[in-house]
Amino acid sequence: MRVTRFAACAAVLLAAVAPAATPRLHWPSVHSQVPADPALEARVNRILAGMSLDEKVGQVIQADISSATPDDIRKYKLGSILAGGNSSPGGNEEARPSDWLALVDRYWDAGMSADWHGEKIPLMFGIDAVHGHANVVGATVFPHNIGLGATRDPALIKQIGAVTAEEMAVTGVDWDFSPTIAVPRDDRWGRTYEGYSEDPSVQRLYAPAMVEGLQGKAGTKEFLAPGKVIATVKHFVGDGGTAGGKDQGDNPSSDRAIRDVHGAGYPPAIQAGVQSVMASYSSIRGEKMHGNRSLLTDALKGDMHFDGLVVGDWNGHGQVPGCSTTSCPASLNAGLDMFMAPDSWKGLYDNTLKQVQSGEIPMARLDDAVRRVLRVKLRAGLFREGRPSSRPFGGKFDRLGSPDHRAVARQGVRESLVLLKNNGNLLPLKPQLNLLVAGDGADNIPKQAGGWTITWQGTDIDNSDFPHGESIWSGIRRDVEAAGGHATLSADGSFTAKPDAAIVVFGENPYAEMVGDRPTLEYSPADKKDLELLRKLRAAGVPVVSVFLSGRPLWVNPELNASDAFVAAFLPGSEGGGVADVLFRKANGAINHDFHGRLSFSWPKRGDQGPLNVGDKGYDPLFRFGFGLRYADKRELGHLSEIRPPRSSTGADGLYFARGATPPGWSLAPSGGASVRSIDRHGQEDTRLVTFTGDGEQAFTLTAAQPLDLSRETNGQLSLLVDYRVDQKPAAPVYIGLDQTRLRVSGALAATGHWQTLALPLGCFAHAGADMTKISRPFSIGTAGKMQIAISDIRIASATGPQDKCAW
Ligand code: BGC
Ligand code: BGC
Repeated sequence: MRVTRFAACAAVLLAAVAPAATPRLHWPSVHSQVPADPALEARVNRILAGMSLDEKVGQVIQADISSATPDDIRKYKLGSILAGGNSSPGGNEEARPSDWLALVDRYWDAGMSADWHGEKIPLMFGIDAVHGHANVVGATVFPHNIGLGATRDPALIKQIGAVTAEEMAVTGVDWDFSPTIAVPRDDRWGRTYEGYSEDPSVQRLYAPAMVEGLQGKAGTKEFLAPGKVIATVKHFVGDGGTAGGKDQGDNPSSDRAIRDVHGAGYPPAIQAGVQSVMASYSSIRGEKMHGNRSLLTDALKGDMHFDGLVVGDWNGHGQVPGCSTTSCPASLNAGLDMFMAPDSWKGLYDNTLKQVQSGEIPMARLDDAVRRVLRVKLRAGLFREGRPSSRPFGGKFDRLGSPDHRAVARQGVRESLVLLKNNGNLLPLKPQLNLLVAGDGADNIPKQAGGWTITWQGTDIDNSDFPHGESIWSGIRRDVEAAGGHATLSADGSFTAKPDAAIVVFGENPYAEMVGDRPTLEYSPADKKDLELLRKLRAAGVPVVSVFLSGRPLWVNPELNASDAFVAAFLPGSEGGGVADVLFRKANGAINHDFHGRLSFSWPKRGDQGPLNVGDKGYDPLFRFGFGLRYADKRELGHLSEIRPPRSSTGADGLYFARGATPPGWSLAPSGGASVRSIDRHGQEDTRLVTFTGDGEQAFTLTAAQPLDLSRETNGQLSLLVDYRVDQKPAAPVYIGLDQTRLRVSGALAATGHWQTLALPLGCFAHAGADMTKISRPFSIGTAGKMQIAISDIRIASATGPQDKCAW
């Protein structure tokens, strides 16, 4: 008894006297190469001194063009506006470049019309130009970062940055949320392709190169001169190391690994003068980065002397414990200088104002944040440059996708291709062949461009959205025909006369962020049509060259076995011609371009291999980091194991009901007297026909194997999508529900007899009170009246177009 009490006392005592934690790990002490400018600092202070409290609060908030109008900017004097991945002029993703410039001008005018006691504080316009200015139709689209990593060519990276900046300047955009310098360590992560490499040696070289390309070299007169833009390194820090590769997840690494692996690109980027850093959605050992004072303030602004601005990620502050999207003093206090509050800006503005008034946010902290915003705007020349369309590059639309810009992208494509297999030295092909070009990626620029292209997910677009671009097929045809050969495009691989060889282009379909998270590394586990195509050609005695499009290394042993040559092309972008440049000899037989690319990510031997990174204990990849064959290499790849990984589906990978099936352990069933039978839409009983009899409340409900956490999908503005056909009109109101919450959808069910898709924003259910962190029934449809409805697909995805409708 006494002993226990003593022990308890000792514990209390220890807790009181023990140091709070081990001393903080310091980051490198670096200094930006942007020269000190006392006159500029004096001007910042002068402007700040004249600002009222609400004006200061406005400066630290960024809204999205889909939720804040130029009038809002005029009224609230916000510091910045962004166009997110699905935001575009007038909601038209295919808007013309001139529409973009006119839009940026309108916001600029609104910013400049505000009365600031004698000063005009320009608005700063931001966008994700993460592989060229790819939100805009007609821009040059570069390979995604994973492909650039394989080039090992920092000089090229700098050139790509310069081209991107110039194309942004054509449409008047000031600020790029790029480069991503994440170090992806688990390739199941949906953002793996946004990272240059699994090994930070590449980020250390590339981060400053891209920053210098976008901003110009610090300390010279090209720095943030016209035609240059503000760069952002993101996402600080640890985004590439989340457990299981879960987007916006938790990074369990030690402080040392956070600094030396995940953070390796930051010190050189800061030295190169990067003006903004974006905080990461992810957390480190449970602590959300948007509230991490020790890293955002002590490491970044203290150790590394960063004097630019820290911007938040899309409502990322709302994930800090105790915060919501409209209230988060903790983020500002931790060191965030500008909230990215796309649709939450107004509530956030009101609350932040109150929190400064009450002292919850110290005035000194707000002043420091505003000072940083003003400093960046002054350095970027916004105060002197004038209206976007009047600037030197404004409106020079012929610079978008210009031949010289596309030549840089095409060089990037050539250098990024990695040759994994070349049995019998099938490559390079001579162009004087009778060639078959197959696969659904052959003539498909959206597929070769990947996510963050025109739309956020890179979906819902086609070749016509790339007026200057070239598919892989068109490049091949051009080369083959010029040399007197013959090329035929046949996506499904069928042919009449047996070809001399086939090039099959296939791979992952576009995705972005959490939509791309996967449970295993197996390529296309549910659909083996590409493999069947390769095997069919092989069986017919046709030599096969595979060109694999993907955002990451994937387990493709069966596809490798079924190919004579195999090229990892990653996501090459709009200049598909770069592929033919390398695959074919010149007409005279000489080698045109040899392969140059070397893997910047290790290639897995098994589909369930888990994190696989150079330097690991027991490192055992199929193709090691740095691998890449050259034409002179004589290396035969033998037969590889085809044992598939067990499917460890969590059920939360977006697809809930498709091809007639639900994930293992799920159910989709009627209740209350409704009945269901299976019918064909595309075939093989892939559809459920549900009959509601009108005898009281009846429902048809999807139940998950375990509760799903849909909070990040909700924050990403994803929707619940249902493909349906009404066969008998409803006689009473119909609701679609998520757990206890439900939305009325009767208005969408009036037309009978044809297939339609209903998109219900997850945010509507959240708003109605659903706890998005644990959803057991991710779909149900119910009514008390009679109705007959066929349902073929239920999934979580991004829906383009207006998404603010919560009832029909
Ligand atoms: C992404 C960022 C991006 C931002 C603005 C976020 O969801 O994580 O990388 O810059 O949205 O589009
Ligand atoms: C993206 C934005 C995008 C939005 C979807 C975010 O997570 O980063 O750029 O527009 O979700 O609407």
